[in-house]
Amino acid sequence: MRLNIGLLGFGTIGTGVVKIIQGYADQIEKKTGVRLVLKRIADLDITTKRDVDVSEDILTTDADELLSDDIDVVVELVGGYDFAKSMTLKAFESRKHVVTANKALIAKNGRELFEAARKNNVNYLFEASVGGSIPIIKVLQENFASDNITSIYGILNGTTNYILTRMQEGMDYDQALKLAQEKGFAEADPGFDVNGNDAAQKLAILAMITQNIEVKDDFYVEGITSITKEDISFASELGYRIKLLGIMERDNGEISLRVHPVMIPEHHPIASVNEEINAIVVHGDNVQDSLLSGRGAGQLPTATVVVGNIIDIALRKEPSFGINIFNDIPRKSIDSISSRYYLRYVTADQ
Ligand code: HSE
Repeated sequence: MRLNIGLLGFGTIGTGVVKIIQGYADQIEKKTGVRLVLKRIADLDITTKRDVDVSEDILTTDADELLSDDIDVVVELVGGYDFAKSMTLKAFESRKHVVTANKALIAKNGRELFEAARKNNVNYLFEASVGGSIPIIKVLQENFASDNITSIYGILNGTTNYILTRMQEGMDYDQALKLAQEKGFAEADPGFDVNGNDAAQKLAILAMITQNIEVKDDFYVEGITSITKEDISFASELGYRIKLLGIMERDNGEISLRVHPVMIPEHHPIASVNEEINAIVVHGDNVQDSLLSGRGAGQLPTATVVVGNIIDIALRKEPSFGINIFNDIPRKSIDSISSRYYLRYVTADQ
């Protein structure tokens, strides 16, 4: 089977998708029988040199060209809200499948987009929106579909984990953030990473697909900006590592969601997850605890999963479009969650 692809967004991940299609199309066809053909790339900037060679004929600044008849799948990698949303809806109406890594859009407008995809009977796949290369969405939507998932927690942001890793080694926060940006891990506005918003969007998606709830950005979110090298070194002295976690728990018919730095005992498997690696622990009644881990950011790890979603479209019997039943489950607020705290204060040594 042949799939014609229209790429919307020729940035870091878009370039990775091009590299993977160019480098691995034969292997993909041998393994799956699916031939991926890159038909068009739309971006406002088609003149900046990327580190891939593409024929000028397939480049366009007119995104609507992706809606033409000979495109089967639109790969939305522009990120953000309004334009991405309107292009996604137009693609659905033109009976195109859409693959995306746009966590912000799904966290905010998932319900509306899932409904639109279902109405048009096309796939809307978003594996790369959470956990980079980790196939967590497929695991939760398909492999663990029968189970009752009662908690999910983990490292959901690569940039902040990379920064904390470098700080653990003694590097300054600013220098570590700059490195994370250079490596292509950070968001265009790295504030989304360091303030916890990116992890919160990913947590919202995990909650949405496991609990069938709509999640607005109305839960406790704290990033890593107030963590100092001193905190990290005191944590080490006490036998802990500091990690930014997203946490979802369902208990007594209530759901709690939160993102904040956590001191994790150093013998816990998540404590030794470093660099831009993400790790997610899922607890279900039957599967019990499962730990999934892998590169949470970066061009080729993320692009691999985007391409995996494209292949999936050809292999699926029925389209997948998120979830179609939304429940109303009460929320537990951060004020009613008990936890242990670490306090650091300066006092005279007398
Ligand atoms: N900025 C994100 C991160 C990219 O660092 O995790 C992957 O979603």
